[in-house]
Amino acid sequence: MNKLILDTDGGVDDAQALLMLIAGGRTPDAITTVFGNVGLDAATRNILSTLAIAGADVPVHMGADRPLTQKIIDAKYIHGEDGLGGAPRPLENAKPASEDAIGFLRQTFREAGGKGEKIDFLMIGPLTNLALALRLEPSIINGIGQLTIMGATVYGRGNTTPAAEFNIYADPEAASVVFSADIDIVVIPWEPCVTHNMSGADVDTAFASVAAGPEKAFSEALADHARRTNASYGGGDVFRFVDPLAAAVVVDPSIVTKSLRASMDVALAPGITRGMTVVDPSGRLGTPMVTLVEEAKIDRLVDLYKASIAYIPG
Ligand code: BDR
Ligand code: CA
Repeated sequence: MNKLILDTDGGVDDAQALLMLIAGGRTPDAITTVFGNVGLDAATRNILSTLAIAGADVPVHMGADRPLTQKIIDAKYIHGEDGLGGAPRPLENAKPASEDAIGFLRQTFREAGGKGEKIDFLMIGPLTNLALALRLEPSIINGIGQLTIMGATVYGRGNTTPAAEFNIYADPEAASVVFSADIDIVVIPWEPCVTHNMSGADVDTAFASVAAGPEKAFSEALADHARRTNASYGGGDVFRFVDPLAAAVVVDPSIVTKSLRASMDVALAPGITRGMTVVDPSGRLGTPMVTLVEEAKIDRLVDLYKASIAYIPG
């Protein structure tokens, strides 16, 4: 199994995705953080807290605090002021690693490529860190194995603008750099994140069978916040798997039952389509073909989620 690096913007579903990786046996070997759902400092704090709750010792490297060219945005209206919906967390004693994410990614992928090895990379925030690393050192693609990205839409119905999904809209130029690179990419677009979910009642039942403890309190607070937010936006009392769906695909790629091969690019012009992803199964965009996940085994997904809320640090 290849080593794994996680790149994250530290939001509510990012924290649960990290717990799913750990419970699913794919604890990241390192984590890089990026601005996004909240600012870089808060995102980094949230990830250090999540690692502390899981009892996992993983180096965390801080990356970009802003997009390549545009103004910074966040999604505190979704993830709360702290980015974790106020979920209870331990005192933050842990510190991030001294090496920044861009230098770390360049060195790590360069060394892996030099040895003929590959490292898998899961990105669940804006794609800025990898874009910066690729711009400075394009040959790092030789050390990147499976790149899995939560972001984009297939059919152009965004969650942040009518046309754009958050992780792409937060830095469209970075996304364009990444989707133009010759890397084996699996994309978990917004559409399956909407259709793969658990009812609030099923979430309550799942938590009822978990023994009380910090991990349960943390995951339950994340789920409560996600359910409340979803309901407040008219989506009903439903828990949507977003970044956790991407984590599940990394833990168990066989969970995917339907996918689409297509070339993909990002609209960069100012206006209503900025950040929209255009997907072409005929490959006419000239960018490399990627695999877009459309459907996954929901039972397996729920099982992986349940394992992550009941996970007892060893
Ligand atoms: C993405 O944006 C963030 O709010 C989520 O964590 C996810 O990465 C969904 O569009
Ligand atoms: Ca995220």
